[in-house]
Amino acid sequence: MHAIPTATSPRMMQANRSEAAAMDTFETLLSKFREGTALIGVIGLGYVGLPLAHTLHKGGFKVLGFDIDPAKMEALAKGENYLKHLGAELTTDLSRSDRFEATTDFSRLGEADAIIICVPTPLGKHQEPDMSYVLNSARDIGRTLRKGQLIVLESTTYPGTTRDDMLPAMLAARPQDATTLEQGVDFFVAFSPEREDPGRKTHTTRTTPKLVGGLEPRATELAAVMYERGIDRVVRVSTAEVAEAAKILENTFRAVNIALVNELKLVLTPMGIDVWEVIEAASTKPFGYMPFWPGPGLGGHCIPIDPFYLTWKAREVGQYTRFIELAGEINTRMPHYVVDRVSHALNEDGKAVRGAKVLVVGLAYKPNVDDVRETPAAEIIDLLSDVGADVEYHDPLVPRFPHMRRHKRDMSSVDLSPGGLAAYDCVVIVTNHDCVDHRAIATHARLVVDTRNALKGLHGLGARIVKA
Ligand SMILES: NC(=O)c1ccc[n+]([C@@H]2O[C@H](COP(=O)([O-])OP(=O)(O)OC[C@H]3O[C@@H](n4cnc5c(N)ncnc54)[C@H](O)[C@@H]3O)[C@@H](O)[C@H]2O)c1
Repeated sequence: MHAIPTATSPRMMQANRSEAAAMDTFETLLSKFREGTALIGVIGLGYVGLPLAHTLHKGGFKVLGFDIDPAKMEALAKGENYLKHLGAELTTDLSRSDRFEATTDFSRLGEADAIIICVPTPLGKHQEPDMSYVLNSARDIGRTLRKGQLIVLESTTYPGTTRDDMLPAMLAARPQDATTLEQGVDFFVAFSPEREDPGRKTHTTRTTPKLVGGLEPRATELAAVMYERGIDRVVRVSTAEVAEAAKILENTFRAVNIALVNELKLVLTPMGIDVWEVIEAASTKPFGYMPFWPGPGLGGHCIPIDPFYLTWKAREVGQYTRFIELAGEINTRMPHYVVDRVSHALNEDGKAVRGAKVLVVGLAYKPNVDDVRETPAAEIIDLLSDVGADVEYHDPLVPRFPHMRRHKRDMSSVDLSPGGLAAYDCVVIVTNHDCVDHRAIATHARLVVDTRNALKGLHGLGARIVKA
């Protein structure tokens, strides 16, 4: 039989001491966040980390950015902007401030009161989560871990990562003199998903509500109070796992709904029905419906990747994610569908794809950004080239075809001129940037295959337009 602990038993006294110590550390950190006197470290200054660092800096904190890429550090020091869609002001704001510094020296992580991790979470060769970036950051933090720190993971990942993967990696890397530091007592850990949508004008990091879930309630509260200095609305959830799963739900919802309208496009087009008009018509319903738009396939670092983190994790509990797999199948077929439409359209003009001069308009994966990660445009260029087309591309935001893991080409963006446009057998619109002259395309091109309904309202100006 176990003895029941009493208030004066050694176990209870130890528990009371821990509780008092935890309260003390919590209160000290909380007031630093409330008063804006904390130093915030941000690991990974990319699409997510850089705007976040800026938002927290605007909220009054001192911010110390960490990245392994020295080119980004140099650019920041000179006030040069390496993510164009964020605007030049963002980098000049930071580089001119004495409250911002960026470094590649990870031994300085111990200086920060809070450390926010914004590193990549890609898929490995076999579609499995590649946690190496998150685990490397966890080890970096572990090596300088000290009493009174808050650690927040923002990278998108499967439920359980923060507690079961990140925390153990951090603890294992602690130096000898820090092995007594306890999570929830001496330092605190939370997850807060990033909802950044590069290129979106209607919402910024500040105005997008932020979810926060800690490994225990104090961590939730600390993270929430920290974010509240820079972000308008912070939503506390009960655990880190809820916050992790909510982010995966958001992106799975998008992937599945985009697949649904892509499938509808395949069904309605041969019936002679315009899927875009159908979606506009359905959108007039004021409840129970929200529009998603078809396209040439998925791109970016999130929607094609994140749902597969859940697919991988689901197997651990003997479950299958059939919606995710099906959506993935439909969405990854879309570039093939586009190329079929190009081939069909050229055939109607009495031309073969082999030897045809084709211009792909838009290399970035979505409008008004220069991000080419997982872009379907690269797949479409490869597929067209494989069947013998002579392909060029035009994208004012991506002047050179960048290095990509799966696509390697020595190409540069060509200019659009009326004469130049008329020289192509087919122009394929893959991404509809605002800065592209779509009227010129609709007027001077001979044949346009439009995967985005970019030429809506511009039919009849000269080009034969085929929606795909
Ligand atoms: N891009 C988006 O729109 C978006 C939106 C929501 C969530 N996310 C998630 O946010 C996370 C980051 O994505 P991103 O788009 O900002 O990626 P990114 O590639 O733009 O930026 C990541 C940065 O981390 C740096 N880095 C890599 N390893 C590092 C390490 N060990 N230490 C320090 N820095 C390191 C890279 O040099 C890079 O600058 C991912 O999990 C992604 O799924 C991205």
